[in-house]
Amino acid sequence: MKILGISGSPRKEGNTEILVREALKAAEEAGAEVEYLSVAGKTIKPCEACDYCVAHKRCHHDDDADLFIEKMVAADGIIMASPVYFGNVTGQVKSLIDRERVMWRQGKTLADKVGASIAVGWKWGFFETLASLDAFFLINKMVVVSNGGVPGLGLMVFSRDKGEVSTNDEALQGARDLGVRVVETVKKMSG
Ligand SMILES: Cc1cc2nc3c(=O)[nH]c(=O)nc-3n(C[C@H](O)[C@H](O)[C@H](O)COP(=O)(O)O)c2cc1C
Repeated sequence: MKILGISGSPRKEGNTEILVREALKAAEEAGAEVEYLSVAGKTIKPCEACDYCVAHKRCHHDDDADLFIEKMVAADGIIMASPVYFGNVTGQVKSLIDRERVMWRQGKTLADKVGASIAVGWKWGFFETLASLDAFFLINKMVVVSNGGVPGLGLMVFSRDKGEVSTNDEALQGARDLGVRVVETVKKMSG
């Protein structure tokens, strides 16, 4: 079983990265093979609606989006986390979501994979951020799970300064619970 954790923060070693790594550590302890990917330092250009992918089954951009898509298609479970930027996901995450369109053109799917979302912010915009991530999962016919926190949404963490979350035991526990929940659900679904 492969669990992929994606940090949507451009800030290396920030709160989002810490939480995703914590969730993956717990997933690994629960028996999964895990992989961490971050948008930090990567290039994910936005979709330009040029329809090149419709004709050619690939994007005309040659950048890092392909790597993310390939890893997502190969995973059984995906933990996707974003800092809140102006009340929603980061631009990098939104670009990645839109660039997934090429996957549909290639006949690949994320259907029946397990998805779990994390939003990290200073004080507002959590619901919108989680809803954007969960919408991405649901549009792709994935099964969305949470750590048992906010009903129907993902893990919500209040954190502002770089690395601040590393001393927030409750948040770290939430991330661990989320990682285990993803593994348990994949196990149940594969029966
Ligand atoms: C451009 C920008 C916009 C932000 N907008 C919000 C916001 O709307 N709501 C909020 O609560 N925090 C906002 N923040 C704070 C970040 O979400 C917060 O610092 C978070 O912990 C960053 O996670 P990271 O360390 O993984 O990058 C913003 C930060 C930046 C850089």
